[in-house]
Amino acid sequence: MRRPLIAGNWKMNTTVDEAVILTRDMLPGLKAISNIDRVICPPFISLQRVSEIVKDTAVAVGAQNMYFKEKGAFTGEISPLMLKSLCKYVILGHSERRQFFGETDDIVNEKLKAALATGLLPIFCIGESLQENEAGKTREILARQVTGGLKAISANKDIVVAYEPVWAIGTGKAATGDQAGRTIEFIRGTLASTWNSEIAQSVRILYGGSVTDANIAEFVREPHIDGALVGGASLKASDFIEIVRQTAALKQ
Ligand code: PGA
Repeated sequence: MRRPLIAGNWKMNTTVDEAVILTRDMLPGLKAISNIDRVICPPFISLQRVSEIVKDTAVAVGAQNMYFKEKGAFTGEISPLMLKSLCKYVILGHSERRQFFGETDDIVNEKLKAALATGLLPIFCIGESLQENEAGKTREILARQVTGGLKAISANKDIVVAYEPVWAIGTGKAATGDQAGRTIEFIRGTLASTWNSEIAQSVRILYGGSVTDANIAEFVREPHIDGALVGGASLKASDFIEIVRQTAALKQ
């Protein structure tokens, strides 16, 4: 049995004060739900405050990115070592990083290795663009992102994969549960051929892209979908709690 997981990606939203308020607003509701991993990913500058607030609860904190070097002359970057005391998870290879900040499969691969070496749990994002999808290249792209991202990384069930079709992110046009379920089954198959089927069965794979409290059930009813990476809807405490609640209930 894979333990379900819901992660909230706040992206470049919330000042420190707003992050504190949002965390306090969602914490009681999140704490009350069990048998599910709950992760919130605020901006870097709020990690310290947010991690203090959730301390001693089962709610975990994640970062949204990091550089792969431990320290040094890399102006503006944040290292795995710096994150280690502040969070448990780190989102890597998000499509916005790939699209706007030039992250390639090789860079994502370096980051995944660095996160694992430091003991951070990576949420490894993959997903095809609209053009790739329309050209019928979805599986080819996903297989390339999985094998490229995991190059020289040995089988590891601690990696969480997030399948986020780029055309579904922030657009209000989510995939259907059936579409996402079949694609995630394919990703699990790719993990089985990259590593082995036992590990592939243990790795959690999330869906992401316009997930709301109105459509989450459709995704988590799919046997291959273990939860969601939620953007916009994770910025509203009641919506995020409801997404977690429905997932926990349906994955019982
Ligand atoms: P969205 O973002 O839920 O706002 O579509 C998801 C993500 O980018 O992780």
